[in-house]
Amino acid sequence: MIKDQIQLTFDVQKIRDDFPILRRSVYGKDLIYFDNGATSQKPQVVIDAINEYYTENNSNIHRGVHYLSQLATTQYEEARKIIQNYINALLSEEVIFTKGTSDAINLVAFSFGETLSAGDEIIISAMEHHSNIVPWQMMCERKGCILRVIPIDQEGDLIMSEFDSMLSSKTKLVAVTHISNSLGTINPVEEIIEKSHKFGAKVLLDGAQSIQHMHVDMQKLDCDFYAFSGHKVFGPTGVGVLYGKKEILDQMPPYQGGGDMIAKVTFEKTTYNELPHKFEAGTPNISGGICLGTAIQYLSKLDIQSIQSHEQELASYAEAKLNEFEGMRIIGTAKKKTSVVSFIVDGIHPFDLGTLLDKQGIAVRTGHHCTQPLMDFFEIPGTIRASFAFYNTKEEIDIFISAVERSLTMLR
Ligand code: ALA
Repeated sequence: MIKDQIQLTFDVQKIRDDFPILRRSVYGKDLIYFDNGATSQKPQVVIDAINEYYTENNSNIHRGVHYLSQLATTQYEEARKIIQNYINALLSEEVIFTKGTSDAINLVAFSFGETLSAGDEIIISAMEHHSNIVPWQMMCERKGCILRVIPIDQEGDLIMSEFDSMLSSKTKLVAVTHISNSLGTINPVEEIIEKSHKFGAKVLLDGAQSIQHMHVDMQKLDCDFYAFSGHKVFGPTGVGVLYGKKEILDQMPPYQGGGDMIAKVTFEKTTYNELPHKFEAGTPNISGGICLGTAIQYLSKLDIQSIQSHEQELASYAEAKLNEFEGMRIIGTAKKKTSVVSFIVDGIHPFDLGTLLDKQGIAVRTGHHCTQPLMDFFEIPGTIRASFAFYNTKEEIDIFISAVERSLTMLR
């Protein structure tokens, strides 16, 4: 269905018209939104879908014979199929709706974690978001497992030889980010997956920063789990996806108990529902799931290759311009990067520069970006991060560069 609707177009001005928030101003200046790594803006079709759901279709799902309940159920399950097709999962039941990436990773850490024993090893990397560190620390504490960390170099690339020497028959899971939220590094996940599988280890990819920038194909990647958030892929907040291979999910115990995840409940024994419902206890974010489907449909009509080149061009242009400033240090200079530009300037606190940019209508993120160990590695308190989406333009970068110049003059 999606394929029939594909119009391979990439006209940034036309795309910007789809995002009403980009027409607003902040402190009397046109908004320049460069905080897409934190959350993306929403196209009108998604905003309309949210409104339509609550205006016309609101009802609980999987629980009613009445018209609205069946309609909402159909829409929710259709959204699951849209997502399945987009990420090329083999089966729709391999798509589990969650609250977001953190929730998806916590699900795996808790449930897959229950299948592990003391002494088993989990490998993560030095560039992980706290969401892909803390759940594993909690799990290791609970189960007596050992957490190992792939180090990175000064460019922000994984040191793969170190990864090679960590892998062993004790490795049960490798959980790494596909793309670093702080550095933009695109990790060699194909290589990681292939090597891990040779040792029988499963692989979880944190896709929070990748699905919006590149084509991800679950069957081709052959990862065992892939997690992403709706709000970073032009959909609503409070909804996300855990993709997992059916044969692995089938072996995993439920994460939470409640309605919808059961087959039969008695006081003596409860049996569990089939996938995906086994992992979806309670009334889910119905509108969120449906409208995430709308967001993915919107994205699927765009040419992802054109998006990638446009975003790469923006990032290279911004980096080149930023590098002209005295005392500038770009944090994250890996060869393969997405459209994230993190930087610090000698003698200037990121928060001060971020605040002055905000007053000029420019939204960037400042701080540790939920990657404190990574900031410790670079021995910095944090960075200023400009993260671009396909609706950003070179003209916006020119305005941003002038604003950085003006701010640095004020701060120095
Ligand atoms: N993980 C999000 C970020 O990188 C919130 O900003």
